[in-house]
Amino acid sequence: METRLSFQDATAFATPLLAVLAVDVATGKDDEPLVALMTTSDAISSAVAKVLETGEFKAAHGETLLLHAPNGLKAERLLVVGLGKVKTLSINEIRKGAGTAVRALKPRGIRDLAIVFPQDEALSDEHLENLPCTVLTRALVEGAELGEIDYDTYKSDRKDTAVHSLTILAAVVEPSTKLEIQIGFEEGLILASAQNFTRSLVNEPGNVLTPTVLGRRAAAMCSEFGLKCEVHSTEKLKKLGMGAFLAVAQGSVEPPALIVMTYEPAGGSRPNSPVFGLVGKGITFDTGGISIKPSEGMEKMKYDMAGAGAMIGAMRAIAQLKPKVKVIGVVCSAENMPDGKAFKPGDVVTAMSGKTIEIINTDAEGRLVLADGLHYAKTLGCTHLIDAATLTGACVVALGTLNGGLFSNDDATTESFQAGLAVSGEKFWRLPCTEDYHDHIKSQIADIMNTGKNRAGGATSAAMFLKQFVGDTPWIHLDIAGCAWNEESKPWIAYGPSGIAVRSIVEWVRGYSN
Ligand code: BES
Ligand code: ZN
Ligand code: ZN
Repeated sequence: METRLSFQDATAFATPLLAVLAVDVATGKDDEPLVALMTTSDAISSAVAKVLETGEFKAAHGETLLLHAPNGLKAERLLVVGLGKVKTLSINEIRKGAGTAVRALKPRGIRDLAIVFPQDEALSDEHLENLPCTVLTRALVEGAELGEIDYDTYKSDRKDTAVHSLTILAAVVEPSTKLEIQIGFEEGLILASAQNFTRSLVNEPGNVLTPTVLGRRAAAMCSEFGLKCEVHSTEKLKKLGMGAFLAVAQGSVEPPALIVMTYEPAGGSRPNSPVFGLVGKGITFDTGGISIKPSEGMEKMKYDMAGAGAMIGAMRAIAQLKPKVKVIGVVCSAENMPDGKAFKPGDVVTAMSGKTIEIINTDAEGRLVLADGLHYAKTLGCTHLIDAATLTGACVVALGTLNGGLFSNDDATTESFQAGLAVSGEKFWRLPCTEDYHDHIKSQIADIMNTGKNRAGGATSAAMFLKQFVGDTPWIHLDIAGCAWNEESKPWIAYGPSGIAVRSIVEWVRGYSN
């Protein structure tokens, strides 16, 4: 989809479809309107006035209303997109509204659209008042770009429903606002295409995307966007002493890949400037190993590399947004298989840090590869660490699919990450990993064991395990097991990989850039 930004009057714009966002403002009082459009254009308002009066369209979340040959407009069609109740209006509704508009074209075979830039001031109370124009524009572009994608690449009879062009129509505004909108537009394009890149990786089946192929795709991305990239395998892992990572990989004929992507700001980083380590779990397929998973639903475990995908996508966006801090992406990729050579419950392995680990369950493999990845990132000089991983079913039980789990050893770092969530629109809920949980992973045989004593607090047990490998380095762990895959399609987004965490991680890093 070619996405453009244009400062001109929407009423005079010729397009097959013009979309306008609307909110439910119903108060229950007879003489008050039910729906308000996010535009100050009288022509657009009058074109839909009659239908709105009927009360048929309620502007519910994802609800759309399509008018042909709207009176007084150059557009062939006018699409009104509901964002839900005005009280709950947030930047995420803008994102979803843009996605809904784009996706509404697909079943109709329409290829081009324009969206009226949403004007908060058109509502009686301003609801997005604290948000700079840049953020609003970003959300609009992101929502549209994310909504455009469908994961039907492996269907031989797939229909071509691609949307070819989107024009965002902003009213003519003063130069400073215009600049904000232009910046938001560019940033939105960068972030959404990075997130879509992540989604395309996560969508790949395990037979296509092996650790070696993931390494190749990351390297190709790095060379395209000017990042340094090294991809290591078994021999180097042995040299580094990555016994935890190697244990997971040893049951597969597919060799592991340790992918290291480096971004250096132009002119080098300033003295004492932080160095960010982005560490991703890249299990290209998780059978559970010898502690094999039940077959029902096992096909989902192709997305067990969503954390790795998020870090590769984040590095892609960072390469383009160019923050003034150094960032190193470390992806630990392997396939977790049962085999004559596979690691077993009861095995004791030694991680790169020197810590010994008693293996209780080979299905708790993500924490093992991350243990070495986090320690390695520290040896590369990272002063701030973040990992993303589809780590535990327990996190899905605790939080469902709307929030990812957030764990950290540092409150200030957590706050800086959380500040970025207001902009990224992604949701992460903090769960504990305080020292009093250390008992969960105490082993009688080795320094620690790779699961909790029982299933209770499983997401925290996993986080406690990772915590052993970050030491005092400020660190955030994102458990994205529940939110990395959209189980059903929504009016604004397709079924399949979500690309969660890319935007939040990039926002967090950029927060340290100035
Ligand atoms: N990859 C899984 C976690 C997962 C679950 C991801 C659901 C996505 C959706 C992970 O490797 C795993 O199997 N964890 C085990 C840990 C247990 C053995 C301690 C789990 O959560 O059951
Ligand atoms: Zn597992
Ligand atoms: Zn796993």
